[in-house]
Amino acid sequence: LTSRDGVLDLALEAAPTRVRIGAREASVQAFNSSLPGPTLRIRGGDTLRVAMTNGLEAPTNLHVHGLHVSPEGNGDNPFVSIEPGESFDYEYVLPQDHAPGTYWYHPHRHGHVADQVAAGLYGTIVVEDPDPVPVARERVLVVSDITLDGSGNLTEASPPQRMMGREGETVLVNGQVRPEAAAAPGERELWRVVNACPSRYLRLTLDGQGLRLLGRDVGRLPEPVEVTEVMLAPGNRVELLVDTREGTSTLRTAPVDRGSMGGMMGGAAPGEGPGDDEPINLLILEVAGDPVEEPGPVPAGTALRDLRDEPVDARRTLDFDMDMGMGMGGMRGMSGPGGMMSFTIDGREFDAERIDQRAQVGTVEEWTLINSSPMDHPMHLHVWPMQVVADGDRDVSGPRWQDVVNIPAFGEVTVRVAFEAFSGRTVYHCHILDHEDLGMMGAIEVR
Ligand code: C2O
Ligand code: CU
Ligand code: CU
Repeated sequence: LTSRDGVLDLALEAAPTRVRIGAREASVQAFNSSLPGPTLRIRGGDTLRVAMTNGLEAPTNLHVHGLHVSPEGNGDNPFVSIEPGESFDYEYVLPQDHAPGTYWYHPHRHGHVADQVAAGLYGTIVVEDPDPVPVARERVLVVSDITLDGSGNLTEASPPQRMMGREGETVLVNGQVRPEAAAAPGERELWRVVNACPSRYLRLTLDGQGLRLLGRDVGRLPEPVEVTEVMLAPGNRVELLVDTREGTSTLRTAPVDRGSMGGMMGGAAPGEGPGDDEPINLLILEVAGDPVEEPGPVPAGTALRDLRDEPVDARRTLDFDMDMGMGMGGMRGMSGPGGMMSFTIDGREFDAERIDQRAQVGTVEEWTLINSSPMDHPMHLHVWPMQVVADGDRDVSGPRWQDVVNIPAFGEVTVRVAFEAFSGRTVYHCHILDHEDLGMMGAIEVR
């Protein structure tokens, strides 16, 4: 669905749906009966209007992940709740100079996010590039995972799966198991890959093909960078240029060690069970036929503001932790939604009535994100992109703008944020959606 004359008007229904996954019938939840939901194509300066209807049995809402739009009013507001059978009208106005890129949408009703995304509620938003890279074709690849029982019905996540962050048994690309794609040698393709899994990290490889990273989450890198492997935490997106070479290649995801609750819980965590150490084949690419001519050069991308050399107006620290709840909060921890554990930022679980951080419009802040726990937490901030300025031993010499930044177990990452353009209240949280539902989220008000 593409905007016309600066507007994209859309009726979106979240509802239970029967779909075909290969030869199987499955009962999932989806937007407009389509798994994934429709891809929305808009441009800087556009208005996106969504009339959303809740056809589910639980409350829901809509979030446009990564879009730089006002959090004020009915905009990108995670505090809205749409009850079953009700509707809500969203309007998002993109600034003229909105960063091009691959974004996505999903429900964000606290307490239900992981269940609803795991059930199939997600879709892609493309903000078109005013200086597009010439390519033979573009593919949107939404990677998700799902667990279905023998009759094709969704299964419920167990308490330990929620604590670890559930990983679905079947990994899908655009709602299918291992789809096939075809190209001719010498073509250049643009792949927009969305990690829509609630908790699964992706470590992608594509054997036998030339792979260049064009962008990550928001905007484009100044130059495409050759890569052999790309890592996506839950919520991350990448834009890849595939320079096709003759042969059959497989897009795979290798297992990622994202830590575990170790001795804290007992039982095998994802990545520790039998078979979890095997790569998963996601898509088969068949490159054959007559070679085509070299595509034109890659034009310079619209880079985001580089904050590395800018003065910092304020600094703050956020501490992500999981607590066994044996201390002061012990009893509360036992009875809370996380069962034995509490999932906190700065020692507190999410409270929609509380403002955890206050920042000023027009300032640049530096945030040190600390992970005091034995599991990775991918941190996500709404509305304003983050620029990673320090990440352990990882190279940050080239600019790295992201809206989801992984904080490794017992590690820390430093980011800078320019609180530009908008005021209002929004959230930051762990994008392991089970952790977000269990309380690992905070509210920020920017004035
Ligand atoms: Cu993708 Cu606050 O979410
Ligand atoms: Cu988001
Ligand atoms: Cu987490």
